[in-house]
Amino acid sequence: MPILEVERVSHWFGGLQALKDVSLYADREILGLIGPNGAGKTTLFNIISGFLTPTHGKVIYLGKPVQHLPPHQIVRLGIARTFQIVKPFANLTVEENVLAGIGMPYYAQFRGLVAPYRTTANVHTASHLLELTDLQNYRNAPANRLPIGIQRRVEIARALAIKPKLLLLDEPAAGLVAKETLELANLIKNLHQQGINIILIEHNMRFAMSLCQRIVVLAQGEIIAQGQPIEIQANEKVINAYLGQE
Ligand SMILES: Nc1ncnc2c1ncn2[C@@H]1O[C@H](COP(=O)(O)OP(=O)(O)OP(=O)(O)O)[C@@H](O)[C@H]1O
Ligand SMILES: [Mg+2]
Repeated sequence: MPILEVERVSHWFGGLQALKDVSLYADREILGLIGPNGAGKTTLFNIISGFLTPTHGKVIYLGKPVQHLPPHQIVRLGIARTFQIVKPFANLTVEENVLAGIGMPYYAQFRGLVAPYRTTANVHTASHLLELTDLQNYRNAPANRLPIGIQRRVEIARALAIKPKLLLLDEPAAGLVAKETLELANLIKNLHQQGINIILIEHNMRFAMSLCQRIVVLAQGEIIAQGQPIEIQANEKVINAYLGQE
């Protein structure tokens, strides 16, 4: 049984159909979700993570439908995500962001609320996550004043705090310089080797091709191709969808 199955999901925003009968599965792999601007990639993540309820269709996680559950319950089941536009908790340090992730994912905004979670065990877990994401040197820095590449790693560390089985990364390489992109690729590979299943939205085809075992391509709300990176690269529909975009 695949870890995640999206079954015939459609989504409308008013009169705009952002997803059209989308079906896909994610297994023990790094799955790439690519496609031009406005294809519906983030909308699909919002549906999987409970931020949106699909107009039609189902999301099956570990064999059970979850499309009706709110984000905090989805998190409890082991699905974590990062955001395309980074949203570290602005008033908190890097370590506090991770502690907030351990204590109450997505809700702690204020230092006072994080305090109860500063237990010895949680600080120990946070240290491990900061090490894993190479953020030890930024532990006490205010998260929102750091360069974008570091902020993206804070988001990943915070997402990892819930010990996810499935991690959704929404354009984690956007805005990164080459060295940061390489470090990010190594981190993603490392997480996958530790048994975390990953779905990666990526705009940069080359980055996706180098990391993913399988790729699903969305364009204008529809899946136009799926397969191995090498097949996707040569797929005419995919090439056409990207023309004029890069
Ligand atoms: N909250 C919303 N209300 C109305 N329309 C929306 C909303 N969110 C997304 N859309 C529209 O739905 C479509 C899909 O958007 P989505 O953000 O999912 O695309 P995307 O593939 O993530 O694009 P990008 O690569 O630019 O991030 C777009 O036409 C977008 O304008
Ligand atoms: Mg998006």
